[in-house]
Amino acid sequence: MAVETIKSIAIDEARLLGELKTLSRITDCEQDPAKPEDVAVTRVVFSENDMKARAWLKQTALAAGLRVREDAVGNTFIRLEGTESELPVVGTGSHTDAIPFAGMYDGTVGVLGGLEALRAIKASGLKHQRGIELLMFTSEEPTRFGIGCIGSRLLAGTIDPEKADALLDKDEVSMAERRQACGFKGTLASVKLPEHYYSAFVELHIEQGPLLEREGVALGIVTDIAAPAGYKFLIEGFGGHAGALLMPDRKDALCAAAEIILSIEKNALATGSINTVATVGTCDVHPGAVNSVPSRVLLQVDIRDTDPARRESVMQRVRSEVDEIGTRRGVKVTETKVNADEPAQSSAHIVGLVESICQAEKISYKKMVSRAYHDSLFMARIAPITMIFIPCRNGVSHRPDEYSAPEAITQGARVLAATLAQLASE
Ligand code: HGY
Ligand code: MN
Ligand code: MN
Repeated sequence: MAVETIKSIAIDEARLLGELKTLSRITDCEQDPAKPEDVAVTRVVFSENDMKARAWLKQTALAAGLRVREDAVGNTFIRLEGTESELPVVGTGSHTDAIPFAGMYDGTVGVLGGLEALRAIKASGLKHQRGIELLMFTSEEPTRFGIGCIGSRLLAGTIDPEKADALLDKDEVSMAERRQACGFKGTLASVKLPEHYYSAFVELHIEQGPLLEREGVALGIVTDIAAPAGYKFLIEGFGGHAGALLMPDRKDALCAAAEIILSIEKNALATGSINTVATVGTCDVHPGAVNSVPSRVLLQVDIRDTDPARRESVMQRVRSEVDEIGTRRGVKVTETKVNADEPAQSSAHIVGLVESICQAEKISYKKMVSRAYHDSLFMARIAPITMIFIPCRNGVSHRPDEYSAPEAITQGARVLAATLAQLASE
């Protein structure tokens, strides 16, 4: 049973923390000399540093005697074989791509903690019929192509492969071109996993929120993953010379955008639910000159909720206000839906398994919702899942001061290893 299993699991903390440090140094951003304790990481998918990180991970996995393969979009599979190779395998994994000026733990704790779990299980001599496979997903972050979790969406078959290949980055270069230039050939249609490929999938991740630390709880067991949606609003007005164009003659796209941004915030707050969150994370202004009235603005909107119907009701209210703003200001507003995903529920069986391990090991835990989305949101379409959260300081994430304590990381990897070993013996 899992409770004995964990007794045979030994995590090499020094190795795990050393590897997190090594990976954090593969980054596109400068460190802030005024804050030496912070670690700023930028590692955008298919960038040179993303490829360097991938090469390092594969080499580290091969050195551990594990099998490595990649698919046509660069999802990387690292496998510890079981005794019955024809059985569906148990999966774990996360991402190593990072948004600009992120921290060093988002995603990487799940990849390197997962690698450490595989090594610990291998070293323990525990017998397990099922293989155990670590996945490093391509493009969990939306930074380059504007939509997150492309690798896991393709694995789960929830995104059209041709549409995915046609996604453009801000340099108007397509996914197809980017991935092939990085050596990921083949068709994206080949990425979708066969049915029952995974018998279970468990992701280790930092909480990216304050609850565990605030409540003094050591570990989170995720029961639900909130449903994310992404929209773009293109606002086209009439701009020109900041001095000569008189106020009555303007159709200022940025002023209209400002009203739209506030409408999104107001309507998200208006649901009265703490589970509704909305963010306008980017605002591209054209022509972007101090003495030129903006004629065109592009907004990217991120809105999430555990209840997709409530999320949609916010968008409906925003749409009616956008119509009024557009008419009153004489600007044209075009809305494009990027994604509108369903939430995910965890498997009660796997949640119960993690719970029994925590109880046996006297590890404090709480069942909770993940407000961040993760690749597990899409893996839940093809396998029973849960996620294991560890606390992060002040709930901070997507910032260089993101931090998780060594003992929390080690404990998370150890509970993950015991959970995987048990699932692989079922
Ligand atoms: O945005 C998210 O929830 C994830 O960190 N990509
Ligand atoms: Mn992230
Ligand atoms: Mn993440």
